[in-house]
Amino acid sequence: MYDAVRMDNASRLPTFDNAYQRRSAPWVIGEPQPAVLELERAGLITGRVLDIGCGAGEHTIHLTRLGYDVLGVDFAPTALEVARENATTQGVPARFETADALSLIGLSGFDTVIDSALFHVFATEEQQRYARTLHGVCAPGARVHVLALSDRTPGFGPRISDAAIRAAFTEPLWALDQLEPDIYRADGSPEDRAQLGLPAEGLVDMTAWLATARRLDNSE
Ligand SMILES: C[S@@+](CC[C@H](N)C(=O)[O-])C[C@H]1O[C@@H](n2cnc3c(N)ncnc32)[C@H](O)[C@@H]1O
Repeated sequence: MYDAVRMDNASRLPTFDNAYQRRSAPWVIGEPQPAVLELERAGLITGRVLDIGCGAGEHTIHLTRLGYDVLGVDFAPTALEVARENATTQGVPARFETADALSLIGLSGFDTVIDSALFHVFATEEQQRYARTLHGVCAPGARVHVLALSDRTPGFGPRISDAAIRAAFTEPLWALDQLEPDIYRADGSPEDRAQLGLPAEGLVDMTAWLATARRLDNSE
């Protein structure tokens, strides 16, 4: 599955959608990522929020429940079906829309973007395009939080270096305010677990990067 995300954006869509159709995706853990919970507690989520590549909607639902103005977007129709089901089950009026993160047509004015495990699926040139696209939909001074799997330790998934984040979120469009090691919680397949010597059951904490980029306005 994860090797298959190293493909062009159009081919990637059915790969992701199939994972949701099979209800089998290592990133669907039924709860928000600890790093996102911590960002919220630290007051780093403000104003209009975009949860980009929202998947099963855990972060959109959590933040909507807390009273934030959040929109969850994903390009996979089945992801949005699952997200809407989850929101209904939990009685949360969360909003979801279809959007391609590399174009984001018709969206604007976001103050915070939560990217949990999206940036790392893109190839290098897509990462640059993505950062430019986000600049176009963000308000002045907006913050983008990127939680991406790290290549510092063995793991599963498309793991990246901190250099990839630094190269995409750079001047004149972005100032990188923070980039620190963190964790991304996942539910590995039996094959991934066996390969990495992980326990056969339970969620696993993968090494990740947590970056915060701030939109600069001297480039318009
Ligand atoms: C690894 S999953 C992470 C989902 C969720 N954010 C989480 O942390 O559980 C990546 C998500 O990004 C979505 N995605 C991938 N490429 C996308 C694109 N170009 N535009 C919008 N969504 C995309 C996938 O459908 C998938 O739901």
